[in-house]
Amino acid sequence: MTDTKQLFVDAGQSQLFQNWDSLPRKDQEELLSNLKQISSTRAPTRLLEDCQNAIKFSQTNSSSDIAVDVKPLPSTSYESLIGNSSKENEYWQAGMEAIGKGEVAVILMAGGQGTRLGSSQPKGCYDIGLPSKKSLFQIQAEKLIRLQDMIEDKKVEIPWYIMTSGPTRAATEAYFQKHDYFGLNGGQITFFNQGALPAFDLNGEHFLMKDPVSLSQSPDGNGGLYRAIKENRLNEDFDRRGIKHVYMYCVDNVLSKMADPVFIGFAIKHGFELATKAVRKRDAHESVGLIATKNNKPCVIEYSEISNELAEAKDEEGLLKLRAANIVNHYYLVDLLKRDLDQWCENMPYHIAKKKIPAYNSLTGKYTKPTEPNGIKLEQFIFDVFDTVPLSKFGCLEVDRSKEFSPLKNGSGSKNDNAETSRLAYLSLGTSWLKNAGAVIKDGVLVEVSNKLSYAGENLGQFKGQIFDKNGIILEK
Ligand code: UD1
Repeated sequence: MTDTKQLFVDAGQSQLFQNWDSLPRKDQEELLSNLKQISSTRAPTRLLEDCQNAIKFSQTNSSSDIAVDVKPLPSTSYESLIGNSSKENEYWQAGMEAIGKGEVAVILMAGGQGTRLGSSQPKGCYDIGLPSKKSLFQIQAEKLIRLQDMIEDKKVEIPWYIMTSGPTRAATEAYFQKHDYFGLNGGQITFFNQGALPAFDLNGEHFLMKDPVSLSQSPDGNGGLYRAIKENRLNEDFDRRGIKHVYMYCVDNVLSKMADPVFIGFAIKHGFELATKAVRKRDAHESVGLIATKNNKPCVIEYSEISNELAEAKDEEGLLKLRAANIVNHYYLVDLLKRDLDQWCENMPYHIAKKKIPAYNSLTGKYTKPTEPNGIKLEQFIFDVFDTVPLSKFGCLEVDRSKEFSPLKNGSGSKNDNAETSRLAYLSLGTSWLKNAGAVIKDGVLVEVSNKLSYAGENLGQFKGQIFDKNGIILEK
């Protein structure tokens, strides 16, 4: 028996070789090569152990979280920007200075498959129905272009690292190429892939097969970012380019402030190694993680793992006790990544998601397309490393939801967080900027302001006194 085969048999996976003798030689080799590739990143016994631990964690977590010491962040780690424009200006200056020196890079996580949205294309290509028909990727690219325009040294390009996964890579890269990188320099964009993990049966005891020669696999969650940074040697790239600060964000939020100078300035001014942004949670059951402390360490309690009791708990003022909603805008000091990345990759936990996973049954030789969950996918969560950073080095900046958060999660016609709400949030924000600049906007009218023209409401003085009395207008640079 080959070493690889032995490794899987020893891990209790002999079902994978049920039809071994009847497989053509070529298929035998393909199966072994696929298994070898999987076991090269993590031994099968270790993967099964990870799954068992994740199952145990899911059984204990939501019932016991109220009992442990979960509290809102202390004021030393939490600051609100709402109504605090002098701080905003101060941070903006500090952030722009770092960007101007070429010290800031942006990482986008775009490896998710957008199953809730029900779209087969990568989420970033999605047209949310703006008059311009711009996709999320285009909007994000144009924010970078405008930011670069505001830097005195016109030669500075902000590196943009885009994390994709097996299922999203080819379509994402092709989309950027087709649109000529939306006016950015192709050389400033780096695509890199996150890893994949095999799926398990519901008991977490056996790997599921996709077909006779391969296991069923899926992206390893957004926490796979750290391993992907390591395997793609991005830290070396950061050093080569002189990058000291990383702004990381999620593909699905049309209001994400790319390389946000205010947020970067906030982290720099306070000497935070890791920082995150929060908005006020909409209601007790909004599907957002909650930024908090657990046993005095920074953490996020994910919406899928919180008990009702904790989600609904109120403080003395009658507000939700935990209300700092995670919008997945994170800041990393590159020195922190260089120091802790290896340890993060080694120790991050896994979480389970029970899914309907099409599978091949090697015992019967049949394919099944289940209508009920039949298996477990494992995922890592990006924020599971927060507790490794001391509270004194961790910061959270509360920002205005209407300026920074409107995620695209659900299909059209759903109650919220869909294309309609994203479109409305984006148009309303641009329209409010125009109003502040002195334009006259008829009630109910929404204007699309290109981010190439304005990053956050600046540069619109030319529209002072101009009347806008119909929908569908696009202000381009
Ligand atoms: C995420 C946050 C949640 C937050 C919410 C806000 C995590 C684990 N959860 O939840 O706390 O309140 O967003 O909108 O961060 N992705 C990958 N690879 C993957 C899976 C996801 O790159 O394998 C990317 C997606 O493309 C997306 C982002 O991660 O950009 C968030 O993924 P999604 O699964 O939609 O997160 P939520 O469950 O909404």
